[in-house]
Amino acid sequence: MSTITVEAAQGSALESEMEEAPPGSFVVTLIIRRFIPELDEEPRWQDFDVRVLPTDRILDALHKIKWEQDGSLTFRRSCAHGICGSDAMRINGRNRLACKTLIKDLDPSQPIYVEAIKGLPLEKDLIVDMEPFFESYRQIQPFLQASGSPVRERTQTVAARERFDDTTKCILCAACTSSCPVFWTDGQYFGPAAIVNAHRFIFDDRDEAAQVRLDILNDKEGVWRCRTTFNCSEACPRGIEVTKAIAEVKQAVLRGRP
Ligand code: SF4
Ligand code: FES
Repeated sequence: MSTITVEAAQGSALESEMEEAPPGSFVVTLIIRRFIPELDEEPRWQDFDVRVLPTDRILDALHKIKWEQDGSLTFRRSCAHGICGSDAMRINGRNRLACKTLIKDLDPSQPIYVEAIKGLPLEKDLIVDMEPFFESYRQIQPFLQASGSPVRERTQTVAARERFDDTTKCILCAACTSSCPVFWTDGQYFGPAAIVNAHRFIFDDRDEAAQVRLDILNDKEGVWRCRTTFNCSEACPRGIEVTKAIAEVKQAVLRGRP
């Protein structure tokens, strides 16, 4: 192909993009921290320009990059609606769900930085190994433990259900745990999400294993590692009062479940 033909082709591609550009759309730059273990010794930053609408989410921009520019870009997502918890990532230095972060709520005149959550082993691009996170979750026994065989369901008053309502909302996205400076420096710490999920059962009056969980969390890697920095509460996409839940578990360790 001659130079003139290439230039003509580029010109017509640009014109065609201008024609197809949805009204109100604009180009934003995403700077993504890439790591492909087969190619990279260290993570590296890569820029992508992508046309978006203000109401697009970061997940939409990542999809456009993957589908139209670089199919090797790797990230987790499933529901795309803030329910499955699989797309927590650091966006402009703050843990958020990509599917709940609108471009217009950032400053699209500036590049948007996207990287994997911290404190867990980096596997590829925006994906970390979640196994240490889920191991802590499993250790606090996140299931109802109750004896007897009720004829019908185990009933509970509205007030008793309300006691742990906040912590039932957790979607296990790890945004809290991976924003915690104690977890960054000591991966053995149970972390906020495990304590939130322990809280959900410790304060359930149908459950009979509260003391077991309190003993587990009264460990040197348990609730006492929390330094009340509130990063976890700020990071939680479900608005759970994570630091408050940890404080209530500390109280229960000292005084027993009220
Ligand atoms: S408490 Fe919030 S931030 Fe932490 S794992 Fe659950 S939903 Fe995610
Ligand atoms: S993709 Fe499921 S929470 Fe974002």
